[in-house]
Amino acid sequence: MQERTSSVDSYALQRAPAETQRLQVQAQMLKPVTQRLFEQAGIGPGMRVLELGSGAGDVALLLAERVGPQGEVIGVEIDADIIETARKRVREAGFTNVSFVNADIANLPLEGEFDAIVGRLIFIHLPSPASTLHRLSMMVRPGGIVAFQEYDMAHFTTTAVHPPNTLAGQMFTWIGEAFRRVGLPLRMGLELYQVFLDAGLPAPQMLGEAMIITGTDPIGCRLGAETTRSLLPLILKFGLATAEDVEIDTLAERLRQEAVNQGLVMRGPDVISAWTRLPNE
Ligand SMILES: C[S@@+](CC[C@H](N)C(=O)[O-])C[C@H]1O[C@@H](n2cnc3c(N)ncnc32)[C@H](O)[C@@H]1O
Repeated sequence: MQERTSSVDSYALQRAPAETQRLQVQAQMLKPVTQRLFEQAGIGPGMRVLELGSGAGDVALLLAERVGPQGEVIGVEIDADIIETARKRVREAGFTNVSFVNADIANLPLEGEFDAIVGRLIFIHLPSPASTLHRLSMMVRPGGIVAFQEYDMAHFTTTAVHPPNTLAGQMFTWIGEAFRRVGLPLRMGLELYQVFLDAGLPAPQMLGEAMIITGTDPIGCRLGAETTRSLLPLILKFGLATAEDVEIDTLAERLRQEAVNQGLVMRGPDVISAWTRLPNE
């Protein structure tokens, strides 16, 4: 099984209010793609679903609506602060079928059986996704669902932007290189196939969707700038750029202006979905 040396305590994107905010901006972009995954995987009313790495609660909110009042969603999140944001958002949305466990996925104090186990952008942060999935899939009932979504960012260089030689291209290079240097897998999305197999699961069905960003996109430039903000300590530490190069507080607006003026088209992360069903016994 594939193992990495990165520790869960070294969450590369920082633990800060700005990161909590960034996850919610990112979730706006990902909402339709994640809904498609849950639809295709067969997650529906009445199901009991375990969600890994809940962050600010966006995936749990989608699931709460999908499983309905007869269903139940249990989210697992290691960070005690962000889980309070997730709880508040679920309360404010009026859902009573969601709860969160503040725990490390590696030592999950949970029992019982689930109809599905799901997660979005969590395996990239785990040192050994396949062995984690192998262990947790024991909690899924026969015929139950396993469904995950991760990014492929292997193209995160200046060529992610057309035409080339732009500030946006530099930003993609900073982000890609920061992930690369800290040892996080830029191909986690495509690695999902092997992760499922190494976990002892049936080969997953897979689908990839490219996130295309232009200057008129209301989210893309902001998300790029906020991702740069969360990675800024690493970008500076690795000498990928100086604070003056990045000028973080004006980056989103400068990107937007550049994108509009030059008609830029940016290939953001590819979102890779993988899902399967356990054999019926
Ligand atoms: C990139 S965020 C994604 C959040 C959410 N799934 C979404 O798509 O909006 C990853 C989340 O997983 C959490 N996380 C990372 N390692 C974890 C672990 N070992 N156990 C539980 N949560 C973890 C982080 O604290 C972070 O909130």
